[in-house]
Amino acid sequence: MKITVVGTGLIGSQLATKLTAHGHDVTTASLSSGVDLLTGAGLDKALTDAHTVVNVTNSPTFDEQSIAFFRTTVGNLLAAGERAGVRHQVALSIVGVDQVPQLDYYRAKALQEELLRGGPTPYSIVRATQFFEFMEPTMSWTSDESAVRLPATPLQPMASADVVDALADVATGAPLGGILEVAGPDAFTLDEIGRITLAARGDERPVVVDDQAGLFAAVEGDALTPGPDARLAPTHYRDWLNG
Ligand SMILES: NC(=O)c1ccc[n+]([C@@H]2O[C@H](COP(=O)([O-])OP(=O)(O)OC[C@H]3O[C@@H](n4cnc5c(N)ncnc54)[C@H](OP(=O)(O)O)[C@@H]3O)[C@@H](O)[C@H]2O)c1
Repeated sequence: MKITVVGTGLIGSQLATKLTAHGHDVTTASLSSGVDLLTGAGLDKALTDAHTVVNVTNSPTFDEQSIAFFRTTVGNLLAAGERAGVRHQVALSIVGVDQVPQLDYYRAKALQEELLRGGPTPYSIVRATQFFEFMEPTMSWTSDESAVRLPATPLQPMASADVVDALADVATGAPLGGILEVAGPDAFTLDEIGRITLAARGDERPVVVDDQAGLFAAVEGDALTPGPDARLAPTHYRDWLNG
């Protein structure tokens, strides 16, 4: 199957490698290879003969500019896909994305989903939980030398490699016309994740529960945890940290 993977960051690079290893004809496209979803430059060429497009781009900022980013880039990608005869558009989104309208970035990602649903091409949305790789950066936003401050937000994070497995399955299957949720095997609160992470690193700083600290402070209740039909991934956070 000819598949174009748009975005070659953490997810896109692993996805392209996996799909290629499984015998698919993969084209990658991103800013650094001269394809700009904001202007459309290089897009028609990148989508030539593609059966399926997987959108794993990301906005350079998480603020209100991310809304314009996803509006423009998804519009350009859907229009180019239609011109190229693409038969399946896949996007990577976030579990609970429509439950956190107080965050610009989540509104932007919800808009991305809405545009895909209203677009001309059969589609699939894979909603993943927070990536394990994202946990340490999250902690660093609210850390100093003496402590790490984190809210007790319920999360069920997952390894990016498991996100890639789910995306590869969806990209090579029939369009879902809906959403597949994927999540890690274990539920935590973010302060627990902080303690597990620090312990694995031999870092003796305490984790202080602070319900005002960082991006996830804006999340209400268990908005970011998966529903009962989610596909649960095999990799446990402690094993991944120690791997
Ligand atoms: N982090 C999480 O926990 C999480 C959880 C669920 C879902 N997600 C979603 O996963 C998706 C992928 O995340 P990621 O971590 O793999 O992203 P990433 O590593 O930041 O990579 C983003 C990619 O987007 C490309 N890009 C940015 N602007 C572009 C433009 N104007 N035109 C073409 N390409 C452009 C970048 O190109 P260059 O490399 O060439 O600059 C890069 O390859 C995101 O949409 C995010 O919302 C993330």
